[in-house]
Amino acid sequence: MKILLLGPPGGGKGTQAKFLIDKLNIPQISTGDMLREHVKNQTNLGIKAKDYMNSGQLVPDQVILEMMKERLNSSDCKNGYILDGFPRTIPQAEGLNEIFLELNQSLDFVIVIEVNDNTIVERMGGRRVNPTSGRVYHIQYNPPKIEGIDDETGETLVTRSDDEENTVRRRLEVYHSETSPLIEYYQTENLVHKINGETDIHIVSESINKIINHNV
Ligand code: AP5
Ligand code: MG
Repeated sequence: MKILLLGPPGGGKGTQAKFLIDKLNIPQISTGDMLREHVKNQTNLGIKAKDYMNSGQLVPDQVILEMMKERLNSSDCKNGYILDGFPRTIPQAEGLNEIFLELNQSLDFVIVIEVNDNTIVERMGGRRVNPTSGRVYHIQYNPPKIEGIDDETGETLVTRSDDEENTVRRRLEVYHSETSPLIEYYQTENLVHKINGETDIHIVSESINKIINHNV
């Protein structure tokens, strides 16, 4: 099964992807997590990506498409995957279609998590992440068992450098101008399912499960 999670920054894509990994036993492919790993390791790609990410801009399409072509060819992607944060522009969606043609694959679901901008800005200040796995928490809405510590690995949680309010607002602008046109793009292929992302994390998860269960 191939699922694309689409939605604004902080909309809950990463949170819901982790639930889907457990349910479907397929990998999450988060371009954001992959890029942060490159930045941490100071690879050539990471050096190119860092300033774009810290200022809330998108990394250029060509860089992302090269990275994803390699990733989607990996053996763990054979039985499906959850795309989180890619594609984010129409040229990326077109590039993904070319990769799909080569691999003889296609998307099954595009799930759009809808959350309004003010909720996002309010949420982001409380986000904490495990920098190794990308597992996501919220100090109020999804707290770890021990403050500041990952439930599963015991690693120290951090805040993301792009979660400062002005950067979040910039990311939201980029989402509305560059990424939201993808909803219409995939609507023409009849793949889009919209869900309300403003409810409790577990209710959002149930909404996603219903869509998947009713359509397989
Ligand atoms: P990326 O890491 O993909 O960031 P994003 O899309 O901005 O999304 P986030 O990861 O911030 O949010 P999320 O939707 O995963 O929400 P989460 O589950 O964490 O990208 C970062 C940067 O990398 C980009 O700005 C860009 O520069 C670059 N990049 C990445 N992909 C790219 C691409 N394809 N092309 C070009 N550039 C690219 O939830 C957020 C918080 O809310 C958490 O604290 C969570 O606990 C909480 N929460 C979640 N759901 C709920 C709920 N229902 N109720 C209450 N709280 C909730
Ligand atoms: Mg994320």
